[in-house]
Amino acid sequence: MLFGLISFLLLCAQLSLNNAVLFERVLDLPVIDYDFIIVGGGTAGCVLASRLSEDPSFNVLLLEAGGTNAGQVKLEIPFLSFSVPSEYKWNWTTTPQEGLDGRLLSFPQGFVLGGSSSDNGMAYNRGSKGDWNRYAQMTGDPGWSWDNIQPYIARNERFTPPADGHNTSNQFDPSVHSLNGTNSVSLPGFSWPVQEVALLAAQQLGGPFSFNLDYNSGSSLGFTAHFESRRLDIDSAHIYRAGWTQFTINGANRSSSTVSYLQPALTRPNLHVLINARVSRVLPIRTLDSSKNIIGQDQSVSNLVIKTVEFSQDPDQNGTSIHLTAKKEVILSSGAIGSPQILLNSGIGDFTYLSSLSRFNSSKHEGIKPLLNLLSVGQNLSTHPFAYLPFFVNSSFPTADEIEQNSTLFNEFFQEWSDTGTGPLVLPAGSPQIGNIRFDQDVLEKELSGIDPSSAPTSPHFFFGVQNGFFPTSPPTGKYVTFYIALVSPTSRMSYLT
Ligand SMILES: *[C@@H]1O[C@H](CO)[C@@H](O)[C@H](O)[C@H]1NC(C)=O
Ligand SMILES: *[C@@H]1O[C@H](CO)[C@@H](O)[C@H](O)[C@H]1NC(C)=O
Ligand SMILES: *[C@@H]1O[C@H](CO)[C@@H](O)[C@H](O)[C@H]1NC(C)=O
Ligand SMILES: *[C@@H]1O[C@H](CO)[C@@H](O)[C@H](O)[C@H]1NC(C)=O
Ligand SMILES: *[C@@H]1O[C@H](CO)[C@@H](O)[C@H](O)[C@H]1NC(C)=O
Ligand SMILES: *[C@@H]1O[C@H](CO)[C@@H](O)[C@H](O)[C@H]1NC(C)=O
Ligand SMILES: *[C@@H]1O[C@H](CO)[C@@H](O)[C@H](O)[C@H]1NC(C)=O
Ligand SMILES: *[C@@H]1O[C@H](CO)[C@@H](O)[C@H](O)[C@H]1NC(C)=O
Ligand SMILES: *[C@@H]1O[C@H](CO)[C@@H](O)[C@H](O)[C@H]1NC(C)=O
Repeated sequence: MLFGLISFLLLCAQLSLNNAVLFERVLDLPVIDYDFIIVGGGTAGCVLASRLSEDPSFNVLLLEAGGTNAGQVKLEIPFLSFSVPSEYKWNWTTTPQEGLDGRLLSFPQGFVLGGSSSDNGMAYNRGSKGDWNRYAQMTGDPGWSWDNIQPYIARNERFTPPADGHNTSNQFDPSVHSLNGTNSVSLPGFSWPVQEVALLAAQQLGGPFSFNLDYNSGSSLGFTAHFESRRLDIDSAHIYRAGWTQFTINGANRSSSTVSYLQPALTRPNLHVLINARVSRVLPIRTLDSSKNIIGQDQSVSNLVIKTVEFSQDPDQNGTSIHLTAKKEVILSSGAIGSPQILLNSGIGDFTYLSSLSRFNSSKHEGIKPLLNLLSVGQNLSTHPFAYLPFFVNSSFPTADEIEQNSTLFNEFFQEWSDTGTGPLVLPAGSPQIGNIRFDQDVLEKELSGIDPSSAPTSPHFFFGVQNGFFPTSPPTGKYVTFYIALVSPTSRMSYLT
């Protein structure tokens, strides 16, 4: 009883503290000259807000288009990671894809604090050594190399015991992990019988499916599972442990960038967060040559200074535009779609493309004034397309489909998650095991004229997972096992410009 009261009081204190710095309406913001205005409270924005506000002499404002993750239990439960409601999403789709019979693909991005780290499948995959070394080579900046990035990976990562507290020895390589960073990472805290079947199959196949103790060591090829001979007992859901997929989970809960970086920083008086604030443009201050007319083809980067953001809190209601100016910097961290969209709205992009938009000019919409001719804005997006193949399985085989199909069962497990932080809901809907695999040489020859799109001969072309149930969410009946496959060395590039 006493404990209950204390935690109630703590909760009240926490809420009022949070309310002091998380604002819903711009009118409630204190009148302050912010040093930094961060546009987008996603994976990057939450980290930036947290790191910059460590210095108490900086006043930092974070603008987020979506709402808050606080108290949104559907964003917290790992099992629900692939059924996050669309109210937390941007709902983007691609244009019709020629190679896919004209289909539109969804392009999921989180519309809530934490961005896609509040909405994704949480699999923690650093990529391979070759991937990072290729970033270093492409950018000409050795800071991106695998070796040089390790201190930052360590600073980010807090390896955390799994929800069920099982012995994780021989299930990962502790020498490549950090226990004292910021964002929690843990091994699966629950297991299903299908995993043992998958492991047995991998062991029988060998070769590319060989055991890899820790796919985050830089050498990622292989299957992330270790078959220890134990009895195959499909009656019990708690049977088998092996070195499995690592997830950005803090024991039982999602560990997004807002949970790990932003929330702990919300007690700082120099950090303010405004939600429901959708930025439309960034605006320049007068050029250094004091030209009053900032429109022009010859605007050069060196005399263009952008410190103002334009946003609205009710864009669908044609709400008034609000302008705020930063003393030091405006930081655009609005994601692979949002950042180029804001830049293009601001007249920063390919002038040929921007002038083609003047066909939309009207008395109501003045059109986009070209400001800076930057050809790469909205181009060259590289992403990992994802496909899944569900198979029927014997109806006596225990799969996670049941939990989605039977609300009584779900409620029982929800109670277990909520009371003890254990049970099947601590495991993401994604796979507890992934394999990182290369195409055979003859596939490369036939399909890609022998050109290897991977970063190195030791880097994968795709990864696959074995999911216990229909993926992403189960139909009302039937039991399934799903193979899901993501291409991690795509040759196609996406463009925002149409
Ligand atoms: C996505 O769709 C849902 C459901 O219609 C809606 O609630 C949400 O606001 C949409 N997201 C955006 C960014 O408009
Ligand atoms: C965990 O397992 C390892 C290897 O099986 C064993 O050496 C170690 O003692 C175990 N640790 C605990 C706390 O049981
Ligand atoms: C974490 O521990 C390592 C090794 O003891 C140390 O070098 C590092 O500074 C620590 N990092 C943090 C963020 O405390
Ligand atoms: C996980 O979320 C639940 C429900 O919000 C909360 O009670 C619990 O403290 C959280 N656990 C951790 C480790 O954050
Ligand atoms: C907002 O403006 C658009 C375009 O002018 C119009 O279609 C829409 O009805 C307006 N919405 C409201 C709520 O006034
Ligand atoms: C459209 O508006 C922009 C910005 O005012 C202007 O630069 C452009 O010339 C206009 N285009 C047409 C076709 O009127
Ligand atoms: C896209 O990337 C390729 C390869 O890095 C580069 O050659 C090309 O110039 C880029 N295109 C644009 C428009 O930036
Ligand atoms: C399903 O599994 C049960 C139990 O192992 C077995 O008796 C039954 O024959 C299987 N059914 C099918 C259609 O394979
Ligand atoms: C749903 O789950 C409950 C609780 O485990 C169980 O008693 C019930 O039989 C299940 N219903 C069906 C249709 O399987």
